[in-house]
Amino acid sequence: MEQLASDKLPTHLAIIMDGNGRWAQQRMLKRIVGHQRGAETVKMMVKQASQLGIKYLTLFAFSSENWLRPAVEVRALMTLLKKYIRQETARMMQKNIRYNIIGNRSELPDDVNQTLDEAIRITSGNTGMVLTLALSYGGRQELSRAAARAARDVQAGLLAADDITVDVFGRYLDTGGLPDPDFLIRTSGEMRISNFLLWQLAYTELYFTDTNWPDFTINEFHKALADFQSRERRFGKTSDQLSTRN
Ligand code: FPP
Repeated sequence: MEQLASDKLPTHLAIIMDGNGRWAQQRMLKRIVGHQRGAETVKMMVKQASQLGIKYLTLFAFSSENWLRPAVEVRALMTLLKKYIRQETARMMQKNIRYNIIGNRSELPDDVNQTLDEAIRITSGNTGMVLTLALSYGGRQELSRAAARAARDVQAGLLAADDITVDVFGRYLDTGGLPDPDFLIRTSGEMRISNFLLWQLAYTELYFTDTNWPDFTINEFHKALADFQSRERRFGKTSDQLSTRN
């Protein structure tokens, strides 16, 4: 296992959990079996991240574009999600984890929204890791919803157009209140952002692995974190400026 410096972990880790379908197809299994195995990896990652002291974990669980998949797969994913939330809420309480959702919740089925509301309510007082699930989420959709919200506030006289700075606009996003991700992991070999957190990933360190999400292990996670710890984050400054804290 890699040696990790505990003072240099990402505060906010975001993950694109890709490759469930291919994992299943390679084994002549139905795609949903890949998602079920993917949910097991989610359990492991939530446990590991909270044990390590990561403050924010954000998982891309269902994209705006995923609605275009065959209805049977969409239904199965929604059922799996409900089951996961119901089963895991007790563990979230034990581990002091709080649920948070980003995405267009109005597109989710009522029963899923009820399950989410319940889990959010029950865990709302927890002060440990914030587990954000991106559901019916797309970065462009989030940005256009935020622009519409800000425009409504301008119309209502609550906000001046000239006051819309980066910080102010950031608060209109679904992620308002969350820090930007420090580290993004994408599994299964695709080197794309796929409409995930377009605004928030501006300075995020990106990590890609060929491993499919159901095969992603604790060892791989530690390898990814060790890679993160070896990087120099300059945020547009020079190395010298960083070392002299200018
Ligand atoms: C991408 O794999 C994964 C998804 C679209 C769904 C992710 C869902 C889970 C990991 C399980 C449920 C989530 C939670 C939070 C319990 P893919 O189907 O696009 O894989 P492919 O690219 O190989 O087809």
